[in-house]
Amino acid sequence: MFYLKYRPQTFSEIDNLQAKETISKILASKTLPHAFLLVGQKGTGKTSTARIIAKAVNCLNNKFSKNSSTKSFEPCNKCSNCQSIGLSSFTDVIEMDAASNRGIEEIKNLIRETSFLPMSGGYRVFIIDEAHMITNEGFNALLKTLEEPPDSAVFILATTNLEKLPKTIISRCLKINFGKANSVDILSMLKRISKAENIDMNDDSLELIAGHSENSFRDASKIFEEITLQKIKSVEEIEKFLGIRGRNDLIETIEKKDLKKTLVWINNFSQNGGDFKNLIEDILNQLHTQLMIRNNILESDAKKSILTLTEISLLMKLLIEAYQNLRNSPIDSLPVEIALIEFYNRISS
Ligand SMILES: Nc1ncnc2c1ncn2[C@@H]1O[C@H](COP(=O)(O)OP(=O)(O)O)[C@@H](O)[C@H]1O
Ligand SMILES: [Mg+2]
Ligand SMILES: [Zn+2]
Repeated sequence: MFYLKYRPQTFSEIDNLQAKETISKILASKTLPHAFLLVGQKGTGKTSTARIIAKAVNCLNNKFSKNSSTKSFEPCNKCSNCQSIGLSSFTDVIEMDAASNRGIEEIKNLIRETSFLPMSGGYRVFIIDEAHMITNEGFNALLKTLEEPPDSAVFILATTNLEKLPKTIISRCLKINFGKANSVDILSMLKRISKAENIDMNDDSLELIAGHSENSFRDASKIFEEITLQKIKSVEEIEKFLGIRGRNDLIETIEKKDLKKTLVWINNFSQNGGDFKNLIEDILNQLHTQLMIRNNILESDAKKSILTLTEISLLMKLLIEAYQNLRNSPIDSLPVEIALIEFYNRISS
């Protein structure tokens, strides 16, 4: 699985530019914070980063090791500490999923663990995933420890829901924002993977994938893996795979103003399990872009439609009606069919 195989192992491999820069600054400075809070949507690199920090502060070959003179804060991924953290068998790194261990007892057990000195590393690192799930009592217990953490303890809290964390907890931690994955960052991950896998795919295709998995690195690498397994490469094939092709085909059919062909297209779309809500949204988006291009508000290399401005706005109006009627229609395809019949009627009269 690409998404596991290419989980970042060093800070430089974190393709989230903003988060990478923040962490690098923090770790390059003299003092190490004792509590981090990693915030962001799922699949943006929180767990990966927590593990890299755990390795970095325990690595035997970087600035955190007494026996090394280097200034680098990257984990070497070769020493015995890095390796056993990678295998989750390092006693000084403790990972807890607060989704299933949320109560006061679990937190107390964790706090008890903080009083022990590290066995083989420099720091005991406590990673608490889904931290917003902790109960109020749990948070209260944790707060005291976060106020005066032992020198040898580092806490890393990760959450997708910052607003569910008490302010008192947030203010004790150094916050690192992962936000959502943007397509530029995703593109850089896809390039990293294709280089390592020797996949020869052009930038247009990679950009198309990146643009359609906007929120998550994990989703992007899954889509990318499926596409390479199916040996798909061209932009057209990928568009078809991602379901974008349908929208373009329908607009081309509408441009020909042939009612029969249009109805056949819709029927096929419906038979293949197409989603009319998505279809209407896609087409409206497309028409909206055309509207902006026509009025010189937007510069785009999208193909210019042969429909006139009046036709475009009529079509949009009818499709919005169809969109509103979707929910009350006994047959999914009806609202779109009615909209297009009406469209052809009006433009020919
Ligand atoms: N910032 C990133 N850079 C590169 N790959 C990433 C990044 N974030 C996530 N990934 C990919 O997604 C997978 C899941 O990431 P993970 O760290 O578990 O995300 P989170 O904990 O935020 O849900 C990783 O194994 C990796 O393949
Ligand atoms: Mg995670
Ligand atoms: Zn190391």
